[in-house]
Amino acid sequence: MSDLSSCTTGKKCLIEADSVDKSYSTKREVIHVLAQTSLQVYSGEVLGIVGASGVGKSTLLHVLGGLDKPLTGSVLFQGQDIYKQSNAYLEKFRNCHIGFVFQFFNLLPDFSALENTMFPSLIRNQERRLAKERAEYLLHTVGMQDRMHHTPGELSGGENQRVALARGLVNQPELLLADEPTGNLDHHASDQLIDLIQKLNQEFSQTFVIVTHSQRVANRLDRLMELVDGKVIPTNHNLVM
Ligand SMILES: Nc1ncnc2c1ncn2[C@@H]1O[C@H](COP(=O)(O)OP(=O)(O)O)[C@@H](O)[C@H]1O
Ligand SMILES: [Mg+2]
Repeated sequence: MSDLSSCTTGKKCLIEADSVDKSYSTKREVIHVLAQTSLQVYSGEVLGIVGASGVGKSTLLHVLGGLDKPLTGSVLFQGQDIYKQSNAYLEKFRNCHIGFVFQFFNLLPDFSALENTMFPSLIRNQERRLAKERAEYLLHTVGMQDRMHHTPGELSGGENQRVALARGLVNQPELLLADEPTGNLDHHASDQLIDLIQKLNQEFSQTFVIVTHSQRVANRLDRLMELVDGKVIPTNHNLVM
């Protein structure tokens, strides 16, 4: 596994977007969202991405996570441009190396917390017994051991997001991408989720990229970048959002 050459700071670069362009064409106009955008994510960090609504934060996460191919530029993981590989590679990349958490949880409503957490593992053809063991372990880790057989409709927002976090981690991804994970939570549940993310980061060196609108959340992250006019720039913790 080679380190990536353009990461020169001594920290290990886990994934890197390099000069990425992304635009959307609608009937009326072409919207340029990412313009020669570059971003490095380092192993073991909790990186926050902030920026105005509609600036392209979700698009950037999707590009990083192998969900959306950029027009030009590259996304490098373990020294390889993920979008230059086969569809099978990309599918495996999304399934095994990346976990996703979304603002509205995206849990399957008819299945329990345990089943929801197991699914990505079963999709990967993991043996059912092992998938269950891992899911149970993670649900314990996120404090949901007493709610494993509840469906999403029987859980609070904060609880659903903790299940979504467990599900995102079930395949032991190197990187967890979270798009406004506290956007639908009250202060208390939001603080609990960030506590949990920090615990997972400290205990398991789990790397996170978190898109957030919340000053409260941004203040607690290791490093902050802001997306402005299609470019990612360093920013500080005293934002006005
Ligand atoms: N599939 C799409 N087709 C056309 N425009 C899109 C599409 N997805 C996003 N956009 C536009 O691209 C811009 C960036 O969207 P997004 O990445 O969702 O922003 P953010 O997450 O920062 O709010 C917005 O102006 C949005 O309307
Ligand atoms: Mg968004």
